[in-house]
Amino acid sequence: MFTAEDIDRWQSELALARPQDILKRALETFASVALSFSGAEDVVLIDMLCKTGKPFQVFTLDTGRLHPETYQYLDTVRQHFNIDLDVCFPDTAAVESLVSRRGFFSFYQDNHQECCGIRKVEPLKRKLRTLDAWITGQRKDQSPSTRLKIPVVQNDPLLDNELVVGGTSAQKQVRVKFNPLAEWSSQQVWDYIRAFELPYNPLHAQGFISIGCQPCTRPVLPGQHEREGRWWWEEATKKECGLHIGAAIPE
Ligand code: ADX
Ligand code: SF4
Repeated sequence: MFTAEDIDRWQSELALARPQDILKRALETFASVALSFSGAEDVVLIDMLCKTGKPFQVFTLDTGRLHPETYQYLDTVRQHFNIDLDVCFPDTAAVESLVSRRGFFSFYQDNHQECCGIRKVEPLKRKLRTLDAWITGQRKDQSPSTRLKIPVVQNDPLLDNELVVGGTSAQKQVRVKFNPLAEWSSQQVWDYIRAFELPYNPLHAQGFISIGCQPCTRPVLPGQHEREGRWWWEEATKKECGLHIGAAIPE
């Protein structure tokens, strides 16, 4: 078991560390830790994890609404690195209820929170209950509105209201979240991908930068910020689906 003090200590020890060293620390510290792979540029983290020579887990949240190119890319990545990729689906009954009540494009009518909650956040929570820690490819430069303060390691509040089974109020679910690329720029990510000739999602060659679900992602124009193509009908401050809450923990 670890404490808030451990997280503070890791934050100061790892704040300026290389992503490779942050990953190494995550693998050494936690028996059950997994990379959350979205089929965009997280491939850098898979490459770094492979180079540690240690076993690691990777999972992806298949919302059922990804681009065909993303599904093909997920298989390319699996084959390129010869790894298993755990695929997490949303709850069938919840998706059936959503689309039966509200149709297939309810997110355009009000906002994306209900659909993202069912297709992404609930499956992520289910996965996190099996893990001690998880690793994401979030970066500060992805969004000045929502990600400017993400630390390289944090206590993830996503399961904060859940108790350990059979536990007391003092035994909350705690998950550690590593963001090893927090300090990296998009340029550094792409330099790494090119230097090591890693496979990337073919949508990037069609003007897509940040890639999510097909109905909620479009290419961006030159000069537009990378997340402007996500949920483009909503304000910049709302362009989060709920996977990454509490990003701005340290002031
Ligand atoms: S999102 O919350 O807006 O969709 P974004 O696309 O920026 O997130 O990706 C940031 C990180 O969240 C990724 O590097 C990855 O770790 C995780 N992530 C996002 N979408 C998924 C997904 N469908 N499956 C697994 N991980 C994901
Ligand atoms: Fe639904 Fe769009 Fe969210 Fe995907 S990104 S889960 S399609 S609202």
